[in-house]
Amino acid sequence: MNIATLFPEANSIPDRFKVGFVEQREYLINGEMRYWPGAMNPVISPVYVREAGQEKQQVLGSTPLLTAHEALHALDAAVEAYNLGHGYWPTLSVSDRISHIEKFLKLMREQRDEVVKLLMWEIGKTLRDSEKEFDRTCDYILDTIKALKDLDRNSAKLVEEQGYMAQIRRVPLGVALCMGPYNYPLNETFSTLIPALIMGNTVVFKPAKYGVLLIRPLLKAFQESFPPGVINIIYGKGRDTVGALMETGKVDVFAFIGTNKGANDLKRLHPKPHRLKSILGLDAKNPGIILADADLKNVVSECVTGSLSFNGQRCTALKILFVHQSIVDEFIQLFNEELARLKSGMPWEDGVHLTPLPEPGKTDYLRGLVEDAVHHGASVMNENGGQINKTFFYPAILYPVNEKMNIYREEQFGPVVPIVPFDHEDEAIRYVVNSKFGQQVSIFSNDSKKIAWMIDMFTNQVGRININTQCQRGPDTFPFNGRKDSAEGTLSVADALRVFSIRTLVATKATEENKQIISTIIRNRESVFLSTDYIM
Ligand code: G3H
Repeated sequence: MNIATLFPEANSIPDRFKVGFVEQREYLINGEMRYWPGAMNPVISPVYVREAGQEKQQVLGSTPLLTAHEALHALDAAVEAYNLGHGYWPTLSVSDRISHIEKFLKLMREQRDEVVKLLMWEIGKTLRDSEKEFDRTCDYILDTIKALKDLDRNSAKLVEEQGYMAQIRRVPLGVALCMGPYNYPLNETFSTLIPALIMGNTVVFKPAKYGVLLIRPLLKAFQESFPPGVINIIYGKGRDTVGALMETGKVDVFAFIGTNKGANDLKRLHPKPHRLKSILGLDAKNPGIILADADLKNVVSECVTGSLSFNGQRCTALKILFVHQSIVDEFIQLFNEELARLKSGMPWEDGVHLTPLPEPGKTDYLRGLVEDAVHHGASVMNENGGQINKTFFYPAILYPVNEKMNIYREEQFGPVVPIVPFDHEDEAIRYVVNSKFGQQVSIFSNDSKKIAWMIDMFTNQVGRININTQCQRGPDTFPFNGRKDSAEGTLSVADALRVFSIRTLVATKATEENKQIISTIIRNRESVFLSTDYIM
């Protein structure tokens, strides 16, 4: 692999992956595709292309740099569509809301190729992973519909308790603001957006910082599938747009995947924090802990994908590896062999794993982490480790890492793999207990006693303990959360329906007269809420 010649000649890019320049001036408010005549935000690809001996970073297009003014219009539209809970959307039956989502899914599927292509060009995600992200999102929508039908079926009955009878159902919370991250600009965003909508909330959605043009092919699908004001899509700088929305106090639900600093800054702008419900996916520094008896073949394969898939840019990535002193040399050797097999290149190339990074300044940041670690006694353990070509950073394996180094604490969110040797498991346990973060941990061992002991050490520290398996979010039906600075609330297909809703009940003393009234309402289908109908 030659890092210096990584970027392709323009004429070597297959036609089906070529992109033109897209000037996106439209944005969606109140069911109208509005035109933005003002300043634009360039969309710059991490990919450079060689033409006539020159390497040029590709500019993919531009999106509207909206201001607080337009953002507030979007919010007004969502507030009006919600209409204090009396709007068309929040009062629509569950089965009708499902029909709108099904229509959207059908139209969304038609845009697969376009969205996948933009995922590759905008954030450098490989073709395989981009397709996986799109398909996983469609599956998530289908699973959400199924989960809502189950929920609805279970609510379609009356309960009797201590002389009272009641019907309990989940209803929407109000206006939701949904913001996703650049590493999963489709999947993570839709994993809050779709549940928010399907539960009857109205939404203002601001696409991620990078991976923003790829929402454009879906704008029409949103427009055609939902009533005016139910979904409003805005663009621009977060500080100019989202801050203004929070200050109004009209946002009821804040769904945000990003840094805990960003979440704190926005949350504190809300004038009535007690009225704001937040669902947050934040920073993480998930450790892999490799005990002396672990099956190294499996460990290495899990740790290489765990720390380097999508170049380490996953919130669930393994971001620090604690390896028992007695096996650390062999581990590093095997890790390096496996890493050397990973192909570097452009996202659309066959079998490629390592690709350019979308964040401006990221390679400098990573270089800084490596230099700091080297300054404090670590070495780069792999050939080419830390080599840079513009937006590309070849993974650097750092060893031995200690607490004086920034990489020991900071979430690198990129291809730097710090390895900390240990003599006793206590050292790794202390790290987790004292960490600011608490998303997940992976334990690698075959010793059931040790694993059991460590499980019990970690159950009150993190949201998921993985045994002989890398950290990850999926399957999407499993709860996904975190403690401390890593998250607020729990997501999963079913949990997301709960976090975007609240239970309301209709209750009465179970007298003959009241039973009569209730059964008349149900028999004559006089209420949408109080009903025993359910969706098949
Ligand atoms: O970036 C955080 C994602 O939710 C991680 O999901 O573990 O499926 O890659 P994943």
